[in-house]
Amino acid sequence: MCAENLRKVIPNGDEAPLVILDGVDLTVFAGEAVAIVGASGSGKSTLLGLLAGLDVPSEGTVLLQGSPLFSLDEDERAALRGRLIGFVFQNFQLLPTLTALENVMLPLELGGVDDAGQRSREWLDRVGLSHRVHHYPRTLSGGEQQRVALARAFVTSPKVILADEPTGNLDTATGEAVIELMFSLREREGTTLVLVTHDASLARRCDRILKMHAGRLVQ
Ligand SMILES: Nc1ncnc2c1ncn2[C@@H]1O[C@H](COP(=O)(O)OP(=O)(O)OP(=O)(O)O)[C@@H](O)[C@H]1O
Ligand SMILES: [Mg+2]
Repeated sequence: MCAENLRKVIPNGDEAPLVILDGVDLTVFAGEAVAIVGASGSGKSTLLGLLAGLDVPSEGTVLLQGSPLFSLDEDERAALRGRLIGFVFQNFQLLPTLTALENVMLPLELGGVDDAGQRSREWLDRVGLSHRVHHYPRTLSGGEQQRVALARAFVTSPKVILADEPTGNLDTATGEAVIELMFSLREREGTTLVLVTHDASLARRCDRILKMHAGRLVQ
């Protein structure tokens, strides 16, 4: 995937507009693992949201498998995202009224896959949660919820996983376990990883570390 001159500017009443992303260029090669680091407020989550097409930029383009994301309408963009991207949010964003299994099944069902139940069970098994499939998120620990979120991100066999602080809410040991899991899943599936993280041990596992400062990528 590739981003060119991404800018995100937000009007700010009578004040000068807020420049949140200030011309970001980025190429991520297939199969690569890239860490994005930088201070709080430097624009990392905003960049990740644009790479996923969850948000639209003020200027600039994102090419996903050759398709310019922002030339598509919202439905087309959602369909492309569903096919190619898995997203892991910092706060998991599991749906509270769905069980672990149903949360993992959701992206498959949205994509019209028929063996959603079986595939989802396999992924829950892979992340070590076959004994928790019928649990609701509130009855799962933080690490367990994070693993459900990973199963949900990987279940569609996406080309790219975008993860915002995938270990941010976990203790060191659980964080390490989640890192191991993510990289072993990547090994198996050849998935490209773009990870926003403050976690030095996670960043070191990646092929490349990119640093953001005040809305720009700095080397
Ligand atoms: N919709 C918005 N309206 C106004 N300001 C916003 C909006 N979205 C983000 N910002 C501002 O843009 C800046 C970058 O936000 P972003 O969430 O991308 O930072 P971040 O690098 O992910 O930080 P953190 O490490 O704390 O998660 C912040 O100063 C934030 O307050
Ligand atoms: Mg953030």
